[in-house]
Amino acid sequence: MGYKVAVAGATGNVGREMLDILHERGFPADDVVALASRRSQGTEVSFGDGVLKVRTLDDYDFSDTDICLMSAGGSVSREWAPKIGRQNCVVIDNSSAWRYDADVPLIVPEVNADAIAGFTKKNIIANPNCSTAQLVVALKPLHDHARITRVVVATYQSVSGAGKAASDELFTQTRAVFVSDPIETKKFPKRIAFNVIPHIDVFMEDGFTKEEWKMVAETKKILDPKIKLVATCVRVPVFVSHSEAVAVEFADPISADEARELLREAPGCLVVDKHEDGGYVTPFEAAGEDATYISRIREDPTVDNGLMLWVVSDNLRKGAALNAVQIAEVLVNRKLIEPKRRAA
Ligand SMILES: NC(=O)c1ccc[n+]([C@@H]2O[C@H](COP(=O)([O-])OP(=O)(O)OC[C@H]3O[C@@H](n4cnc5c(N)ncnc54)[C@H](OP(=O)(O)O)[C@@H]3O)[C@@H](O)[C@H]2O)c1
Repeated sequence: MGYKVAVAGATGNVGREMLDILHERGFPADDVVALASRRSQGTEVSFGDGVLKVRTLDDYDFSDTDICLMSAGGSVSREWAPKIGRQNCVVIDNSSAWRYDADVPLIVPEVNADAIAGFTKKNIIANPNCSTAQLVVALKPLHDHARITRVVVATYQSVSGAGKAASDELFTQTRAVFVSDPIETKKFPKRIAFNVIPHIDVFMEDGFTKEEWKMVAETKKILDPKIKLVATCVRVPVFVSHSEAVAVEFADPISADEARELLREAPGCLVVDKHEDGGYVTPFEAAGEDATYISRIREDPTVDNGLMLWVVSDNLRKGAALNAVQIAEVLVNRKLIEPKRRAA
């Protein structure tokens, strides 16, 4: 018997990708249920060659469901994840609601799969922020080799990271520029078409944004609490895939060649690093792909043991949906959950 999986937020950017990835990877589910808000009740979403009718989260009984992949935003997660967990259904949550809870594992399978063991405390497992997920995949093999002490990162984050309404805003504004219509801003604080915005999520007292703080807190929780990290998070007019310019300092020496070799062998990483025109990956090429791409690997001449990297990945996949499905695969492959017995 296979598992019964619910996708909550199935009509959204991440939820639709979750359904695709469950199908693509042949996840051992014999029943997949699409859930969203009342607004979407009765609409249809694609699943494999077929469609699923969307049902309402509020009316759904989780007692015979094994896993809920959740991407319906923080407030929905805060309300629903504990209730679902109490029905003995494991929630794999994409929002930031549970990431910093000491009783909730924050997992990137290539980096800290063993930390999943604590999930039974609340039956909730958290996915990191999209920018953190791809960063720690690239940093892990380097940290194991030469111990990272400090990271300085600037992100170039696509609009899909802010949901489907944000993707629509880039499209509508871009069109408006070409046909000389007025530009309307709703999701972003300034125009995003043909612009970049150095502001993601809310401002904090120290002048950093919450998105920047998340990268610090989540890298410490997933990789190593001793790593110092400072980030500038920037929204760019790209539909899918986040890019990151990363400066890394190490305790021990590490050359660019050694880093290239380590990253070539590392799970989830693909090195594309030719010193020629186009010999690097851009967000357009990473969209729809699973890998975290690493390009432009250089030694930093301004510090003792430093490297510079360019890291690109599909934020909807490794940054969210793929990572969530990989976590579900860890639960299944390690036999941490069994399918519930269901009435025929
Ligand atoms: N996009 C990314 O790269 C990314 C990466 C990591 C984490 N995340 C997180 O994943 C979550 C979803 O992101 P997204 O980009 O997929 O957003 P989105 O495109 O705006 O989709 C939101 C989804 O949540 C559903 N929803 C909203 N309110 C609901 C309610 N009260 N009850 C049930 N369902 C409700 C929506 O259903 P309706 O269609 O019915 O409104 C829709 O399916 C967010 O927490 C986000 O921070 C996103």
